[in-house]
Amino acid sequence: MNSSTEQDLRQILGKFLTGVTVVTTLDQHDVPVGFTANSFTSVSLDPPLVLVCLAQSAGLAPVFRRASSFAINILSTEQEAISNSFARKEADRFAKVAWQPKVTGSPVIKGCAAWLDCEMYEKIIAGDHIILIGRIRDAEKTLRHPLGYYQGRYCAIDLPEETLSMIEHRDSVHSTTGIIVDLANQLLLIKQEEGGYDVPRAEPGVEGEESRINAAMKKFGIEVHNKVLFSVVEGRHHQRISIYYRCNVEPGEPLPPGAAYFSPEALPFDKLARPGLGSVLKRYLEEKNAGQFGIYVGDEHQGHIEQIAERKI
Ligand SMILES: Cc1cc2nc3c(=O)[nH]c(=O)nc-3n(C[C@H](O)[C@H](O)[C@H](O)COP(=O)(O)O)c2cc1C
Repeated sequence: MNSSTEQDLRQILGKFLTGVTVVTTLDQHDVPVGFTANSFTSVSLDPPLVLVCLAQSAGLAPVFRRASSFAINILSTEQEAISNSFARKEADRFAKVAWQPKVTGSPVIKGCAAWLDCEMYEKIIAGDHIILIGRIRDAEKTLRHPLGYYQGRYCAIDLPEETLSMIEHRDSVHSTTGIIVDLANQLLLIKQEEGGYDVPRAEPGVEGEESRINAAMKKFGIEVHNKVLFSVVEGRHHQRISIYYRCNVEPGEPLPPGAAYFSPEALPFDKLARPGLGSVLKRYLEEKNAGQFGIYVGDEHQGHIEQIAERKI
């Protein structure tokens, strides 16, 4: 395969969303060693087998070739730094992590989403990699969310638990739910009685994210599709939270009184009814242009975009 096709192949394989693991063992001096791997997969339930592929060129290949056991540490969303550190040439990758040996002696790293402690079952040379097949001796999961990996970037497949809990308990604080309605790249805004434009808003009290949006849009007589969470903005001291969803509408739906669709160039940014709405709409347009949406989680001043695989509702 020439180098351009190898590059293509990497990109094609990168479309396969995986988790991230750190595979660990003890070397001949009982020193913990490990490397980052996303080639982990389950193989068999009876007997319980898993595998991971290790490059034969890796510095640790001789150690794993000799090893009689290894542990698979399935990293959590808080462990991106550990993933990077175990993929780099570092003198002591274990220097900054807390770990403990499990039944086979292999090190299990604290704070993982789950771990599996395995005895070596088989090693198979396959091309430039060695397939390490392990028989699971012990395993445990935690409540932490797993870290994801997709097209060479980390991603999360769900929001952090505290954000999910904030969404769930939004009625116990002052909350507002805005809905970005997109009709072929034009956004729906509604003129407010007190002046200024706003996106449609859902009333509090309706149980469930989908029902809440449906109830709100029914009030306007509009049916919307593809409802996806777009941002969760927490006011200071957890006293306020504003949640935005994005969705699409088909041409031909009725236009409610005071409502109009605005093309990106015509959006009245200086006449919006709420201070934070402008930045929400700007990010919407930017991400739509870029063809990749994330979910903003943070407060009005700082936050980050979770690249999660669409949290459809
Ligand atoms: C997300 C991610 C996934 C990786 N998956 C693998 C893998 O499955 N197998 C592998 O041999 N290397 C994989 N690597 C690269 C190794 O982690 C890296 O080459 C290794 O730590 C090199 O260390 P060593 O030469 O000291 O053994 C991955 C790296 C990253 C960042």
